[in-house]
Amino acid sequence: MSAPDAFYVTTPIYYVNDSPHIGHAYTSLACDAIARFARLDGRRVRFLTGTDEHGQKVEKAARAAGMEPQAFTDLVSQRFRGLATLLDLTPDDFIRTTEERHRRGVQAFWQKLVEAGAIYLGRYAGWYSVRDEAYYAESELVDGRAPTGAPVEWVEEPSYFFRLSAWQERLLAFYAAHPDFVLPQSRYNEVVSFVRGGLTDLSVSRTTFRWGIPVPGDPDHVVYVWLDALTNYITALGYPDTDNELFRTFWPADLHVIGKDILRFHAVYWPAFLMAAGLEPPKRVFAHGWWTNEGQKISKSLGNVIDPVELVGRYGLDQTRYFLLREVPFGQDGDFRHEAMVRRINHDLANDYGNLAQRVLSLIARHCEGRMPEPEGLCSDDEALLALAYALLPRTRAAMREQALHRALEAIFEVIGEANRYVDTMAPWVLRKTDPTRMRTVLWTLAETLRHIATLTQPFVPRASARLLDQLGVPPQRRDFAALGPDGTPVVPGTPLPPPEPIFPRWQETP
Ligand code: MSP
Repeated sequence: MSAPDAFYVTTPIYYVNDSPHIGHAYTSLACDAIARFARLDGRRVRFLTGTDEHGQKVEKAARAAGMEPQAFTDLVSQRFRGLATLLDLTPDDFIRTTEERHRRGVQAFWQKLVEAGAIYLGRYAGWYSVRDEAYYAESELVDGRAPTGAPVEWVEEPSYFFRLSAWQERLLAFYAAHPDFVLPQSRYNEVVSFVRGGLTDLSVSRTTFRWGIPVPGDPDHVVYVWLDALTNYITALGYPDTDNELFRTFWPADLHVIGKDILRFHAVYWPAFLMAAGLEPPKRVFAHGWWTNEGQKISKSLGNVIDPVELVGRYGLDQTRYFLLREVPFGQDGDFRHEAMVRRINHDLANDYGNLAQRVLSLIARHCEGRMPEPEGLCSDDEALLALAYALLPRTRAAMREQALHRALEAIFEVIGEANRYVDTMAPWVLRKTDPTRMRTVLWTLAETLRHIATLTQPFVPRASARLLDQLGVPPQRRDFAALGPDGTPVVPGTPLPPPEPIFPRWQETP
């Protein structure tokens, strides 16, 4: 049992056959926002990411690059570390499946499965897709290809099998007892109906290539890349040592975030492997959707792969983070369009959020001698706005509990809209002449509302939020969620504020 305040969130580990693209960036960004939110909310967080380096697909890519697999994976894995830096990700650990700690853990996990009678030696004869690193039954093929469109090849070789067929009833009982094990709900239903349809034993070793972890006691076999890869979630906690602090604190994982294409591996095979090895399954698997590019499927052959480095270079980091996490309800498919990106940048970030901050801070700079004003006698309009700001933490927390990242952002932007309306109605620039005391109260109310907004946008747009909190004079140690709400630590009247600077520039189309 993990510790009650602990929160363990993982990305899939990425295949190093290729450089990082928008799909990788997306999963990682979502996890990062989730991890940052949980940290600010006082949880003890472990955020894991890494690279999946074994298997035929990576071996082939290394060969195509004219390199040894180890040298090749060293190189490409570095690019994924680079992605984490580029995107301001905050992982606590980065695991590579070629590391010794992982190899040792996988072999111990295998032994456990053998001791439990879950693995037997047989012979595999059937279809395999190297691109998907997956076995397919004849009945699943569509026009001679995998249902994903990937080519398949006929494979016949000695193979160890995992007795997946024996797990059907126990998996169904597990899903029934944990109706939110898989989110969104539609994906849960998909998993349940797949398992109801019957399970066949799963081939878990290969003999026709060498780039993998040798099967203990039978080195002609290497462990099937998915059994190898899934195990990263526990080897990164020090498995097989299940008594160590990390493992005791963080297993079972709270959340595996994945793309919908790898749901079956995470929601069917993984819990079955774990239960067979006497370990608890993770608490939740969240499957997000896929991005297309201007309406087209993203693929190397179409040459329309979106490079996260270009994206961030062109639009900016916070802008990219915001767009990806806001534009599409988390869990659904999305289409990447330049126009939609520009609308989010100019409308949401520059006009709504940026403008609110700019208006409030420059009024304070100009009319309150650059110091946080002192409120005097809040009226019901002020209290109503503050009540909305205070309600944001419980609202965003509820959304984040279901990984509804877009809903958390919507809630925050609703309050940004309300605050902008309040500025218009109160017209502090008029009050400056008619009632300066009232003006100061209005500006304080706005600054306090902005503090709530900026604190809560930190997980999504960390850089801009930090700059805004600097401009509001909020010290770094008062930026977590404990500082929010009616019992929090409000902005302090009299605090000298730095000169205001815009936080979100508008996008200018260059002809
Ligand atoms: N190595 C496996 C995962 C093993 S986890 C134990 C793998 N790697 S991957 O590099 O191919 O994909 C990683 C993630 O990127 C997946 O979650 C996948 O869904 C996601 N994406 C790849 N292309 C994508 C889009 N076009 N859009 C959104 N996400 C997509 O699978």
